[in-house]
Amino acid sequence: MNVSFAPARPAGAYALAIPVWSEDLLADRLAGVAEPGRTLAARAAEAQRFERELGAVAELFVQDGDTARRLLLVGLGANRDEQGLYERVGGTLAGRLLISGETRLVIDLSGLGLSGEAAARIGFGAAARSWRYDIYRTKLGRKQKPTLEDIVVVGAEDGAETAWQARSALLDGISFTRELVTEPANILYPESFVERARKRLEPLGVEIEVLDEKKMAELGFGALLGVGQGSVKPPRLLVMRWNGGGAAKPVVFIGKGITFDTGGISIKPAAGMEAMKWDMGGAGAVTGAMVALAGRKAKANIVGICALAENMPDGNAQRPGDVVTSLSGQTIEVINTDAEGRLVLADAMTWAQREYKPETLVDLATLTGAMIIALGHEYGGMFSNDDGLAARLDAAGRAVGDKLWRMPLGEPYDKLIESQIADMKNVGPREGGSITAAVFLQRFVENGVKWAHLDIAGMAWSEKAGHLYDKGATGFGVALLDRFVADNFEG
Ligand code: BES
Ligand code: MN
Ligand code: ZN
Repeated sequence: MNVSFAPARPAGAYALAIPVWSEDLLADRLAGVAEPGRTLAARAAEAQRFERELGAVAELFVQDGDTARRLLLVGLGANRDEQGLYERVGGTLAGRLLISGETRLVIDLSGLGLSGEAAARIGFGAAARSWRYDIYRTKLGRKQKPTLEDIVVVGAEDGAETAWQARSALLDGISFTRELVTEPANILYPESFVERARKRLEPLGVEIEVLDEKKMAELGFGALLGVGQGSVKPPRLLVMRWNGGGAAKPVVFIGKGITFDTGGISIKPAAGMEAMKWDMGGAGAVTGAMVALAGRKAKANIVGICALAENMPDGNAQRPGDVVTSLSGQTIEVINTDAEGRLVLADAMTWAQREYKPETLVDLATLTGAMIIALGHEYGGMFSNDDGLAARLDAAGRAVGDKLWRMPLGEPYDKLIESQIADMKNVGPREGGSITAAVFLQRFVENGVKWAHLDIAGMAWSEKAGHLYDKGATGFGVALLDRFVADNFEG
């Protein structure tokens, strides 16, 4: 999607969108539309019960010079402080026009007195909502193909282009995450994930380091390697470094990157198993965040780490009851091979803390089905050993719309993963399944490290379109991490 900004409406063919606040006089907002179009539009708004609620749309065709122009009135609602208001307006319009036959959309803000920042946000929402991945659809019908190519936001105050720069980096990051999450597991597996990330990130100045299975075996990544050993696709640890912050200690982000989760020997039921291609959503978010941060040259030192493996049943797969020795030295009884995310994360966390001595460590993972049972698809679950960090992540999430809800940790939960034979087992009882997963991870957090675990199982993928995404991969977490860095580590 091309997004651009202009002082006034261009010449030529396009659909015209006019945003309207609840309290606006429609006649004022339609001042740029010639009669009889203005009267028609007012009548159409009434007939379609357009009440200017945020995201509501009335649509009609009006005569404009010698063309018939598609005109959309779009509601801004009444609350100017509503989170994500402008993004949502852009997203709503793009979602509506994406396959409409229109190739160009002009959003006219004249007379609204909106900032360049607001205009950039509208453009961002429109572009984010327009993202699709059609490379495998060789037979898309003419009417199913996207037509919308250009979005021009006109009539805002100055500064739209500058505001757009940072957002377009974020958009690149979100788009890359969605691409990674969407790719099927025969295409995207640990090695190909690494190569795709490398190709995308090195040109942006991100340093890439990769630990292969030999190196990890040498170092003692027993937990991660146990998960990968049933697959013919060897596991990888991908390390991405962005050094924009001088001598400051890096912030570390770690993503669960199970490129396919069959469950292993504790195999999952067949129905819906295809969803487990996106069990690398945490790794996808971390990688996309690196694209966004490097793309806007963030003034911070960030290390992104992806723990990549495929969880398969096989003659060489790990068995329920196996005991593995993690990189930390702690032993784990693998009761259920389907609780594999915590195993790969454990070793990645240990390695990251030894290597980078971070003060702050955040992991993202599609870790538990229980998280979806608890929070549905509205909030990612957040677990943290530090109230300040939790508050900062919460604030970043609210600001960008990647909402988080804090969940508990604590000794009584920790007791539930004690093992008869090893230092811990990898699952607790069914009840509180997301929390026992989190306390498992906490056992790998070193003293003094501020840590948060974000369980994004309900957020990485959506069965229905949202304001800023089509159905499918959402890109959840990228804007959150980008904002978290901007607000806390670039001062
Ligand atoms: N990747 C799954 C969690 C998941 C489920 C993510 C559904 C997204 C949608 C994870 O590896 C898993 O299988 N977790 C098990 C844990 C259980 C065996 C303790 C689960 O949630 O059932
Ligand atoms: Mn699993
Ligand atoms: Zn999994």
